[in-house]
Amino acid sequence: MVAGNWKMNKTPAESRLFAGKLADEISDELLSQVDVVVCPSTSCIDAVTEVLRGTRIFTGAQNVFYEDFGAYTGETSGLMIKDLGCSHVIIGHSERRQVFGETNEEVNKKLHYVLGIDLIPIVCIGETLEERENGEMENVLERQIREGLRGISHKELDQIIIAYEPVWAIGTGVVATPEQADEAMGFVRGLIAELYGKDAAERCRILYGGSIKPGNFDELVSLENIDGGLVGGASLDESFVELVKIAAKHS
Ligand code: 13P
Repeated sequence: MVAGNWKMNKTPAESRLFAGKLADEISDELLSQVDVVVCPSTSCIDAVTEVLRGTRIFTGAQNVFYEDFGAYTGETSGLMIKDLGCSHVIIGHSERRQVFGETNEEVNKKLHYVLGIDLIPIVCIGETLEERENGEMENVLERQIREGLRGISHKELDQIIIAYEPVWAIGTGVVATPEQADEAMGFVRGLIAELYGKDAAERCRILYGGSIKPGNFDELVSLENIDGGLVGGASLDESFVELVKIAAKHS
């Protein structure tokens, strides 16, 4: 899987144009080998799903609130993004955690909510540089998984995509080395195996995210523990098509 997180970039008109380019350039053959998801800003979802309707490119939201309706100024419900044509939703991105104070408990509420309305969650986890340097990486990832997935059944786990995004690699140009990514993601898969069994852990899709570019993706996606990428900067231009082609080679 290759998922593009456009973050707070592109206007509705720019999003429409770019989604059209992706629809033209990502062939059905590629889409039969790789799941492709684009996650525009909430304000652009409508424009993007309209252009992508009838293609096999999925659209996801970057965030969601865990009630259908109500007095939650500024929030958008899962029901609303689903109605706009989203099939996926990113939950607990590190920018939501760091800039907007989102907690593992909120991630867990959102996860239960979206699974209840058949949206596919892409749950983000990852440690900061400080946590890594203090030797806390495994503790942080374990807390994010245990608390984030609390109460999630075996059946529900099969719907969940996990994205390991070390915070120090996001938007910095410093990509995790294959060894670092493999070690962290192997740890996450081991933890999933402990909680849900070995088979479930093998089936669980775990993506890497953080400074992915066409020049470094091939090596990352060839690793056993990496099932694809969640891409920020390189999802905003033609590089994204290259990344889909690279993933297809490893499908
Ligand atoms: P960059 O690819 O720009 O480092 O961003 C990664 C990311 O945060 C995707 O969710």
